[in-house]
Amino acid sequence: MATWSAPGKVFLFGEHAVVYGKPGVAMAIKPRVFVTVRKSRNPTRPRSPYINECFRRMGVRGSVYVHSQLQSSSGLGSSAAVTVATLCAINDEFGLGRTREDIADMAFAIEKKVQKGRASPTDTYVSTSGGIVLITGNSKRRLPPQGLQIVVGNTMVPHSTAKMVELVGNLQKKHPEIANPILDAIGAVTLAALHNINHPRELGRCMDMNNALLEALGVGHPASSKLVLAARASGAYGAKITGAGGGGSIIALCPRRAKSRVAGAIEACEGKAIITTIDTDGARKEKHD
Ligand code: PMV
Repeated sequence: MATWSAPGKVFLFGEHAVVYGKPGVAMAIKPRVFVTVRKSRNPTRPRSPYINECFRRMGVRGSVYVHSQLQSSSGLGSSAAVTVATLCAINDEFGLGRTREDIADMAFAIEKKVQKGRASPTDTYVSTSGGIVLITGNSKRRLPPQGLQIVVGNTMVPHSTAKMVELVGNLQKKHPEIANPILDAIGAVTLAALHNINHPRELGRCMDMNNALLEALGVGHPASSKLVLAARASGAYGAKITGAGGGGSIIALCPRRAKSRVAGAIEACEGKAIITTIDTDGARKEKHD
């Protein structure tokens, strides 16, 4: 029996624009998904298409148990974390000798297949490696870890990443003269943020600008706007939608002392708050009996 875990993630900057080759920055966060795999002759078929695909690609059969600290469809990368942790646990239980790189590549291929071609390698890569990652096109670079104090606000409005990516795609086709400058500006904000990664006040301002640009692309939602405004009003340096939008989650960058106040303000607006920070571990072995 092998148990592995993998972290969720937030987009700090650049979601949607990464789909168009602009830079994006994502960070692994503390809530994790735990997956236990056991060799078994008569396993029951898992209900998750992600887990099914993991077993199919690894060419083995086994039983699986999942415990998740991440809500699904909330924009926090839970499907990628499930996929990565399952592949790692299968690899360990059956002694298949796959490297971390193999696992990240395979997890991306699985996400892409289950999501019908609409996935960037961001979630699966960040969940495998942990830390902060800069993504530009197909290139991924781990950045030095930063002790950013983040409060996540889940709107509890489930969203579909595929639908939101399509919505931006349609805008870009219909009005390239509007969408392209917005996508360029998001890329520019991401680069400005990278230059200010040690200056939380500036970084917060970059988050606010990134949020306004996401709203302009049409991926806002009344529930996320409410949480963003509440976080700012209660002392966050800045706040933005994280991930695909249209519901899902927001993040607020906070001074250490303001974290619980910001979390309280989010909860008062019917959001679910998670106080968190970077997870540098990535996929991790928990147990092997
Ligand atoms: O919904 P999430 O958190 O998986 O974020 C999607 C981010 C997008 O840039 C919109 C799409 C992608 O695959 O990068």
